[in-house]
Amino acid sequence: MAVEIQRDLADPERGVTLRNGASVRVRAIRPDDEPRLMALCRRLSPRTVYERFFSFRRLLPEEAHALANIDDRRRMAVVAEVDDGQEPELIGVARYGPSNEGTTADIGLVVADGWQGLGLGSLLLEEILRAGEQRGVHQFSADVLTENRRALRLLARYTAITRRAVASGVTSVVFGRRAHSALEATRHGSS
Ligand SMILES: CC(C)(COP(=O)(O)OP(=O)(O)OC[C@H]1O[C@@H](n2cnc3c(N)ncnc32)[C@H](O)[C@@H]1OP(=O)(O)O)[C@@H](O)C(=O)NCCC(=O)NCCS
Repeated sequence: MAVEIQRDLADPERGVTLRNGASVRVRAIRPDDEPRLMALCRRLSPRTVYERFFSFRRLLPEEAHALANIDDRRRMAVVAEVDDGQEPELIGVARYGPSNEGTTADIGLVVADGWQGLGLGSLLLEEILRAGEQRGVHQFSADVLTENRRALRLLARYTAITRRAVASGVTSVVFGRRAHSALEATRHGSS
């Protein structure tokens, strides 16, 4: 992991430098992100959309509205944003919301295609788990296509998985935040 954390993850907004040297802002989602969420989803490749939503559909305006307007203690989302001096652009989103199991929060994660493989997914994952813990959520779940090796590898590497089940090509995992995540280990220079 070559993500340089410039400020503590607990900060509401911070700058990070990715492996490609790009400066990215990571912050909690805001109501005015609604059009930026729609724009991000329009830019995603069909493969990324499919891996995120299990279909080739687009984000609906009402979904973007609900995602950007967190008015429920059971929901949270963080975004990664780049700003080239013009209109800021979202390049990744991690969210959690209610799952079928009462005490478990369901995680959703996506990074824009051109920004994948730079450490942003693991950073956003760590950030949303941390945000959950700060709000009393300690158990999370995610449904991932079984063929989606990179997402499963990400979860295996950066979370503490307690349950795993496979059905109809979908792997469902239940996990908590690692006490010392691989991300934090990297921050301190060990592996
Ligand atoms: C899954 C996803 C969020 C990962 O984001 P990312 O920014 O590429 O992730 P990172 O760069 O932090 O990589 C995290 C880990 O994923 C794995 N990984 C990343 N790219 C990979 C690739 N091309 N092939 C295999 N593994 C890969 C690695 O284990 C990596 O850890 P490491 O580089 O520290 O060894 C991103 O690929 C994505 O948006 N996919 C589509 C949506 C999705 O699948 N969401 C998950 C289900 S909700």
